[in-house]
Amino acid sequence: MQAVECPVGKLAVECPVGKLDVECPVSKTEVCDMERIGVLTGGGDCPGLNAVIRAVVRAASKNDIKVIGIKNGWKGLIEKDTVELKMDSVSGILPRGGTILGTSRTNPYKDPEDLKKVIENFKALGLDALIAIGGEDTLGAANKLIKDKSIPNIVGVPKTIDNDLSATDFTFGFDTAVNIATEAIDRLHTTAESHHRVMVAEVMGRHAGWIAIYSGIASGADIILIPELPIDLEEVCVLLKKRQARGKGFSIVVVSEGAKFKDSDMVLQEEKLDAFGHVRLGGIAEILSKKIEEKIGFETRYVVLGHIQRGGTPTAFDRVLATRFGVKAFELVVNKKFGRMASLSGNQVVDAPIEKAVGELKTVDMKLYDIAKVFFG
Ligand code: F6P
Repeated sequence: MQAVECPVGKLAVECPVGKLDVECPVSKTEVCDMERIGVLTGGGDCPGLNAVIRAVVRAASKNDIKVIGIKNGWKGLIEKDTVELKMDSVSGILPRGGTILGTSRTNPYKDPEDLKKVIENFKALGLDALIAIGGEDTLGAANKLIKDKSIPNIVGVPKTIDNDLSATDFTFGFDTAVNIATEAIDRLHTTAESHHRVMVAEVMGRHAGWIAIYSGIASGADIILIPELPIDLEEVCVLLKKRQARGKGFSIVVVSEGAKFKDSDMVLQEEKLDAFGHVRLGGIAEILSKKIEEKIGFETRYVVLGHIQRGGTPTAFDRVLATRFGVKAFELVVNKKFGRMASLSGNQVVDAPIEKAVGELKTVDMKLYDIAKVFFG
């Protein structure tokens, strides 16, 4: 790309080079010398990934910068599996769930040979920078690549339905997952009421109960159980009996997949670890339902929402957030703010260190749990 200098560093309408719709990233002193940038989506998919990809491609096209889509997360860099993304490639994808690039839970640090290939292929593809869209694992790997200078030119976009990444108020995908879970729990309410049953809804959330607390509050759940607080079966039963005593013959319990009983481990679907050392969770709702029936004799059923929460079209909120994140990530690349990621602070999209996002898990704010507790029982 021909180097351009923006004399005003402002909006495209004011910018004599007319390159961007957003605040022009090419400042008075800085010259844009980017030609090819890579973009990848890694880890569990979530609604809004395509909106980010579209935003990156649209912003880059206006600057005559090529975007190379890397397929299936870090796996695509190991295998040099790529596709050039042009305006046409991203047409019509804004409302689509999933990711047009595919994803995987590949850890480039698992095997030194893979790491070598990642570094070699990044160079061979002639990439000036990489935009990594992912959660704790994908951004964790990005952070390592930056720190050990294997690939220093990386910026991040925080994604996960779990909303457990630090350094951003929200990740995109979370709002959609919460809306899906809320609608499902609303539906459970009517059948629970007709049959005078307890219904236990298991939602995703490995180590943080954000989906449970938001969907539980939104759907008027009678008890919400999250990984941050061990489950006290006695207390759950007391609350259920309290409801019955005041004439409520049904109850709704929302539980995060990662919640566990006092003195016991998380409930696993599979012991096998993925490349980042995670087990597959799932099954707490079934165990909890049986225990409730055994202890107080209330007829109880359970539902595991699982991957339904990750599929389908993003909400308008997530489309907008993902779009803002994509444009921000492009700005970060052009301004060479490597090691940073797009982040939401209040209602502003700013940038934050990737290192901070992956350093510590963002768990549920206990003030929010206190609000939820007002409606328990
Ligand atoms: O991406 C986060 C997440 O949705 C967790 O909530 C869940 O435990 C996990 O992914 C499931 O992963 P997989 O799709 O690999 O089974």
